[in-house]
Amino acid sequence: MRISFAAVTLCSLYGNSLAFTRSTFHRPTTVALSATIEEKVAKTRVPVFDEVCDTTGVTLKRFMSEVAMLNPELKELTVLFGGVDTACKALSNLVKRSQLPSSETLGYEGNVNIQGEDQKKLDVIANDVLKRALRFTGRLGVLASEEEDTPVDVMPDNVKRNEIVIDESEKYVAVFDPLDGSSNIDAGCPTGTIIGIYEHDENCVIDEDCIGDECTEQEAACLANTLQPGTNLVAAAYCLYSSSTFFALTLGNGVYMFTLDDQIGEFVLSNPDVKIPESSSIMSFNSANYDDWDQPLKDVVKGWENGTGKSKTAFSSRYIGAMVGDVHRTLLYGGVFGYPSDKKSPNGKLRLLYEGAPMSFIMEQAGGLATTGTQRVMEIMPEIVHQRVPMMMGSKNDIEEIIEAYADWKQ
Ligand code: AHG
Ligand code: MN
Ligand code: MN
Repeated sequence: MRISFAAVTLCSLYGNSLAFTRSTFHRPTTVALSATIEEKVAKTRVPVFDEVCDTTGVTLKRFMSEVAMLNPELKELTVLFGGVDTACKALSNLVKRSQLPSSETLGYEGNVNIQGEDQKKLDVIANDVLKRALRFTGRLGVLASEEEDTPVDVMPDNVKRNEIVIDESEKYVAVFDPLDGSSNIDAGCPTGTIIGIYEHDENCVIDEDCIGDECTEQEAACLANTLQPGTNLVAAAYCLYSSSTFFALTLGNGVYMFTLDDQIGEFVLSNPDVKIPESSSIMSFNSANYDDWDQPLKDVVKGWENGTGKSKTAFSSRYIGAMVGDVHRTLLYGGVFGYPSDKKSPNGKLRLLYEGAPMSFIMEQAGGLATTGTQRVMEIMPEIVHQRVPMMMGSKNDIEEIIEAYADWKQ
């Protein structure tokens, strides 16, 4: 297709304002769920773009500025996502370049994180990139990350590491897994970043005299407002670093998918309403753990393997071993991704705060479900920052089959 210079200029200079009619329709709000914050976020007004620049599409920047216009109370949140936007692009570049001979220092860091795992150097770098990107937005006081022992302030390095600093003027709390699936990096397989955003929880009561090291971990985390259930999330997103770089986002009213256009350096809206198929025939588990799973899950999976399950369809198995990649495929093609409870790990492997809850929020907003087998993942109140959670998420009918099997088992 031939694009005239004039058109390109028009798009790049005026794409957000003068050259195109601003979006005028809003997606109807979804049915409100149980909790108050859920009800609030379900009322978020989201733009629908009736005229789009052929050259640039709808960039994440334009999307966020229109969200801010429609929801003035979310202005600060959209600024925060400006930082996330930049961080994801930077991380995408780092991941892409990490296997070049000139990047050989991006190997194992040699340190061990709080989970007792070797930290790849990229894990540490990714943590830093996100922390700084969010700090410079000025909208965030506190964050919790897979790579930090406890929730940390986002102040410069001259402030003691892991000291909790609360600035009441800051509106949001971020939780994230800076680089999910990092053991895949050396093989060039998909990795990702998971982000959850909470408001400060006014109900988080602690001893106000506790300062720094005097706080118990629970007090410190509560002080940092990071111990909130998924139902309190006001936004969640993931970046997937794969054959393309994707950015999936929910503000509580549907899921928006953006794809990075390397040529213009922008995330461009590629699916304004991601919906997971209601049924499917793909399952995604580490099936080497099969013998140690709970009996109801074993029964359901056996039925899917041999086509005697509820849908009478024989399932296929797909497992990357990197949650963001596995969940992304599950969202698009349907199916079930899970890291369930097993005899060796009764709480599974994935972390509730920065893996389970944000990804469950996205999954539910795409019309899917997320369960431990007996409980909705979004409703679990975390007790500690690095708490693990058994989790299965995906197509509604398939997850319901699992929930029903667990309910029968319990009776
Ligand atoms: P992380 O790299 O952040 O530690 O997460 C890895 C997780 C998750 O991405 C994936 O679903 C799971 O570990 C895979 O675990 P197994 O290797 O036990 O299957
Ligand atoms: Mn992870
Ligand atoms: Mn990680």
